Amino acid sequence: MRVHRPCSACAGTLSTVRGEPLVRQIGAAVAMAAWLASAGALAQPAPRPASAPADPPRSVAPIVYTPTDIVDEIMDLAGVGAGDYVVDLGSGDGRLVITAVAKYHARGGFGVDIDGPIVKVSNDNAAKAGVADRVKFHERDLFAADVSEATVVTVYLLPGIMPKVEKKLLAELKPGTRVVTHDFPFPTWTVEKVIAVESLDKIATTGFAFTQLYLYKVPPR
Ligand SMILES: C[S@@+](CC[C@H](N)C(=O)[O-])C[C@H]1O[C@@H](n2cnc3c(N)ncnc32)[C@H](O)[C@@H]1O
Repeated sequence: MRVHRPCSACAGTLSTVRGEPLVRQIGAAVAMAAWLASAGALAQPAPRPASAPADPPRSVAPIVYTPTDIVDEIMDLAGVGAGDYVVDLGSGDGRLVITAVAKYHARGGFGVDIDGPIVKVSNDNAAKAGVADRVKFHERDLFAADVSEATVVTVYLLPGIMPKVEKKLLAELKPGTRVVTHDFPFPTWTVEKVIAVESLDKIATTGFAFTQLYLYKVPPR
């Protein structure tokens, strides 16, 4: 089931959602906290000695797939179409970039993921979908990815890493590039549009159906 409610008044955090019954907001917040805690998102990293080498790539989010109905909402919100080049940071099984090209006629795209086996699965999925000539997935830390060719970027990561992702995207993307984040907003970037979506397929992973998607546009320099 998919219930699409435009929600331009609900930029910011879940607690600002208007028109949601209080019990629903509390339930969503409790389920969200449980999911984040299980994913280690609320834990603080141990301090690193000043002399230590640079951190190796580390996982900044668990493998949790965007349900296919929400993938379509993300494509619609970003307005993906011919001419777009779509990049997914932490691409899982590749569904976002593959859908962008196979269904929404984007000219190409790539995904990066830190998990080697899932990168192989995503390249196999691109081949099965007949888009392997235009879609590639790489085993790479998302912070090492060159995103400058993107016209659309998708992000489904955890809240603690969103400030660093925001900084990277604002520094590297061309003005006008659209960015859609799933569940978690950027901390300082002004959001263009927020939509609230319900998908029963999310209950299995996060414990609740309620989802928010955030659209951003890179401002002129
Ligand atoms: C919540 S899942 C989202 C998957 C996919 N984008 C989707 O929406 O279906 C986050 C993904 O980010 C990947 N990931 C975590 N840390 C990463 C990093 N430092 N660099 C690249 N990928 C990372 C995980 O392996 C996982 O596949």
